[in-house]
Amino acid sequence: MEEPKTPPTFHEPVVPQEPFARPADQSGPEAVSPTGKPTGAPDDSRSQSGAYLTTAGGVRLPDTDHSLRAGDRGPTLLQDHHLREKITHFDHERIPERVVHARGAAAHGVFASYGSAGGVSKAAFLQEGVETPVFVRFSTVLGSRGSADTVRDTRGFAVKFYTDEGTFDLVGNNIPVFFIQDGIKFPDVIHAAKPHPDREIPQAQSAHDTFWDFVSLHTEAQHHTMWNMSDRGIPASFRTMEGFGVHTFRLVAADGTPTLVKFHWKPKAGVHSLVWEEAQLAAGGDPDFHRRDLADAIEAGLYPQWELGIQTFPDTADQTFEGIDLLDPTKLVPEELAAVQPVGMMTLTANPTNYFAETEQVAYHTGHLVPGIDVTNDPLLQVRLFSYVDTQLTRLGGPNFEQIPINRAHAPVNDMLRDGFHQQAVHAGVAPYRPNSLDGGCPFVAGADVGAYVEVPERVEGEKVRELSASFDDHFSQARLFYRSMTPVEQQHIAAAYTFELGKCYEQVIRERQLQALANIDAQLCATVATGLGLPAPEPTMNLDDVDPSPALSQIGTPFPVDGRKIGIAVDDASDPQAVNGLIEACEAVGLVPFIVGPHGGTVGTFKVDRTYGTARSFEFDALVLGGALPPAADAIPALDARAAFRASDAAASGGVDARIIQLVGEMWRHCKVLGSLGSSGQQALESIGVDPESPGVVNGEAPGDVTEGLIALLALHRVWDRF
Ligand code: HEM
Repeated sequence: MEEPKTPPTFHEPVVPQEPFARPADQSGPEAVSPTGKPTGAPDDSRSQSGAYLTTAGGVRLPDTDHSLRAGDRGPTLLQDHHLREKITHFDHERIPERVVHARGAAAHGVFASYGSAGGVSKAAFLQEGVETPVFVRFSTVLGSRGSADTVRDTRGFAVKFYTDEGTFDLVGNNIPVFFIQDGIKFPDVIHAAKPHPDREIPQAQSAHDTFWDFVSLHTEAQHHTMWNMSDRGIPASFRTMEGFGVHTFRLVAADGTPTLVKFHWKPKAGVHSLVWEEAQLAAGGDPDFHRRDLADAIEAGLYPQWELGIQTFPDTADQTFEGIDLLDPTKLVPEELAAVQPVGMMTLTANPTNYFAETEQVAYHTGHLVPGIDVTNDPLLQVRLFSYVDTQLTRLGGPNFEQIPINRAHAPVNDMLRDGFHQQAVHAGVAPYRPNSLDGGCPFVAGADVGAYVEVPERVEGEKVRELSASFDDHFSQARLFYRSMTPVEQQHIAAAYTFELGKCYEQVIRERQLQALANIDAQLCATVATGLGLPAPEPTMNLDDVDPSPALSQIGTPFPVDGRKIGIAVDDASDPQAVNGLIEACEAVGLVPFIVGPHGGTVGTFKVDRTYGTARSFEFDALVLGGALPPAADAIPALDARAAFRASDAAASGGVDARIIQLVGEMWRHCKVLGSLGSSGQQALESIGVDPESPGVVNGEAPGDVTEGLIALLALHRVWDRF
């Protein structure tokens, strides 16, 4: 790795030079050996080196465009080892995608511990001031690797902590409960949720018969399903998602005292979601919407942060808290009953250097635990403890995947595991067994006093049964708790989502069965969905016990920081350059990310155009400011852009504003996003489109500072819900 990247040239470069250094926003797995020893090499030492094209064996090659042939019109020769190596390697480039969570994006970062958990856990990385490198992968659950980011689904939130005591993985989701109570059903719920086996449709969707067939028959899934139908199912970005460990874990203090805990990740940027139409537009307009947002933010130095928190519960014999069974993964504990106590801050600081090497090959595992963190008997977690290594044996092609650079421990590894496909370590010695005398007795077993992982000596007894405790039988009260904790607008979104998804089912009986489940959750929700489906609302089959709402479950109402929010600034060739530049600077000064939307590519006046009227789409922006009269651009030719054709008459009726800007404003308005204008021509354009400048969520100003001040106040609440 040599020179920093220079801009590409028009003509093919011919002077040999070493590979460029990687961009500043990227990082790679730390350079530790397969057995965890720091190598002292820079972490890009695994990248390609040398200026010349070579074989995999490092022999320089004169040509890679022509195979070796018997004459220029003759057959290709088998002896062409370069051809065979190139094609053979290509033929084997793919590995199986993950059986679930195939679609993901990841980043490197650091976890800085406050030390506040030091009293309940002896884990070294939770002690005061300790900083631990992390690698975090976010994912959807259902879609294939190439599916869209913004589908309605649960999101994975998996964190690998490379601690000095070994690797700890917190393999969580953005939803605090799960579909099933016993892991033995996991293949079944996934078979039901994945595309139908005959036609392999729909992709990355729960809006189909088999999914609703399963969740209406296994009613324990109703709570998780309610979260999926809520705004949580369509997060605005990875940066604005909460994360949850879901299961109850057990922390162990230095003196051995156990404490039951639930893990929470709280995003500093707040918890925000898309609206459904936006999610659908983004799935087509930018299927990589979340992936791009994460990478762009890190590249721009807007490092996403989450605070790790724990809810703690006494480790009592019945493992319940306020009547909630802590071993039931379909139940949460409202924050009003057990506050989330902050224990550290995670900051994502670098993008991966290579998607396949890092994001694809990373292998998380719920069994990666360190001293001070133990599991409980949650029957879902118990099955996960088996599943992850098992699946990775196939996905990563053999038993040595822990030696892949991104998976290597940063602690010394002396494991007596030997040989196998793709062995990277060069183990010395003759006695990989113990006890031994030939290698001086090494490796030795440790006591807890020198950092051994010792399971909590929990007493276990019982008869062998295939059943769960009766406390798992309540499938509806927490779905009701969630629904009734939502604000009216969130409740409307939930009802609309159920109506959409059930409306996509072909079988009426499945809709009816799911309506029955809704009747057992909330009569008003059931009635609204039934009306949309054109079906009668059934009566509940049980008493609907009252629940105390948990306002902490709602996403709406809490102001959050606005840095990193994207502001579209629509300009035309006559826009006042001073005012527009002022707005760009004012945005940047407060951490907002401005995007210039111009009538054509290149530059407008002195500023670079990021999007044109033709390429901009509303889902890209949190707010849109009109910075000029925005007359139809040169490419607003109906024959070339259907949107221009469709809205040409509107344009005429709207004071001659480009039809695509009218569409942009219309979408932003419908999606309750902040709108604004800069200067009188911008305000006139807004008015001529039909937006009352005095209406809620609209900012108008002559001075850029006035506009940004208004934007910040409105964006802190994310959307203008009181517009409608
Ligand atoms: C018994 C129930 C479950 C089973 C059997 C199971 C199994 C799996 C499997 C086989 C994978 C693919 C792993 C790989 O190829 O590396 C996976 C990925 C994942 N699972 Fe589970 N899972 C279960 C429940 C859960 C739950 C409850 C959560 C959340 C708390 C969860 C979160 C994740 C995440 C985040 C990933 C993606 C990890 C990554 O980014 O590589 N799973 N799961």
